[in-house]
Amino acid sequence: MTAVFSRRAVLVVRLAVLALLGLCVATVLLFVWRARAYEQLGEPITQPIPFSHKHHVGDDGIDCRYCHTTVETAAHAGLPSTAVCLGCHSQLFRDQPLLALLHRSEASHQPIAWQRVHVLPEFVYFNHGVHVAKGVACVECHGRVDQMPLAWRARPLQMQWCLDCHRDPAARLRPTSQAFSMDAPLPPPDQAGLLAREAHLESRRRMTDCSTCHR
Ligand code: HEC
Ligand code: HEC
Ligand code: HEC
Ligand code: HEC
Ligand code: HEC
Repeated sequence: MTAVFSRRAVLVVRLAVLALLGLCVATVLLFVWRARAYEQLGEPITQPIPFSHKHHVGDDGIDCRYCHTTVETAAHAGLPSTAVCLGCHSQLFRDQPLLALLHRSEASHQPIAWQRVHVLPEFVYFNHGVHVAKGVACVECHGRVDQMPLAWRARPLQMQWCLDCHRDPAARLRPTSQAFSMDAPLPPPDQAGLLAREAHLESRRRMTDCSTCHR
């Protein structure tokens, strides 16, 4: 008996089904990936040492730059080395069990493996220095870090969120002297215009151009 369908037709159908399946899987993965960004909103991230910004920043008033030393000058804010913590904790709470890992890290020269709270995909270019220099304060993007016992993600960091501000950043600027303040209010609208002029902002076209963030 001759086959009803040629082998070629069967192959085509099989390939089509496979392609469809692949597409379904890819779609689901994309949704999961996008949903994750929102899921993590407001969710404290477990760390190897339960480092508290609430205690160090909120109660003790330590400046962000003491630990995130490159936030004004570089793309990355940087995380503190063990030596920075030991600047205080070689004396203070030396024998606290919570700090045992800190002393082990010093002895072994292995940095603490902090879990990342924010991670942009690799194809996105972000730079802290430019934002801070123009008066976009930490609190605009990271929320009230000074009230976080463990750090969490306060904003979704989706492209739409970046663009919302890039389309009209004037209203979100503070004087650069307040870039590190957690509770300085946004200036009133009449001052916002002045700040924006002083900041010599890039054109809106440049701020929303794909190649600005995908280079
Ligand atoms: C005494 C040191 C210290 C000070 C001061 C400090 N931080 Fe941190 N920060 C850390 C450490 C350690 C981590 C990594 C552990 C964690 O995520 O909590 C961190 C993590 C963060 C993260 C999450 C990074 C990520 O993985 O995406 C943000 C955002 C942050 N800090 C913002 C701030 C801001 C804003 C200030 C000032 C208001 C500040 N920090 C002051 C030590 C410090
Ligand atoms: C315009 C939004 C924005 C502002 C303003 C901002 N950050 Fe961030 N921050 C981000 C994003 C986005 C990331 C994730 C970067 C990545 O994955 O490459 C991040 C990551 C970090 C990290 C993790 C280490 C790193 O550099 O990737 C720290 C620490 C941090 N920010 C601290 C600060 C501090 C302190 C300030 C204020 C001086 C600040 N940020 C201001 C958006 C911002
Ligand atoms: C400038 C001094 C200073 C530096 C630098 C510093 N700490 Fe602290 N740390 C303190 C003080 C003060 C307290 C007590 C905080 C409180 O209870 O208000 C403390 C408390 C702690 C505690 C006890 C739990 C708590 O939150 O009260 C841990 C854990 C801790 N620090 C970890 C770290 C780590 C990890 C680093 C480095 C990323 C670090 N500290 C850097 C001053 C410092
Ligand atoms: C709250 C407002 C705000 C948010 C949110 C924000 N930005 Fe910006 N961004 C600015 C301002 C203001 C500038 C400075 C523009 C200038 O120099 O005139 C800037 C500049 C930049 C530049 C440098 C532009 C250049 O001309 O080289 C990059 C890259 C950038 N942002 C990426 C991002 C990304 C990626 C995100 C999201 C993860 C983001 N920004 C979120 C306000 C914001
Ligand atoms: C202000 C910064 C910024 C600009 C400008 C920008 N993007 Fe993005 N883009 C991002 C960020 C951040 C992400 C990753 C976060 C996310 O999942 O949305 C992203 C993700 C993407 C993705 C991955 C899929 C997705 O939506 O998650 C594509 C595709 C993309 N961008 C294309 C573009 C194109 C095309 C343009 C120009 C019309 C553009 N982007 C302009 C910041 C930017």
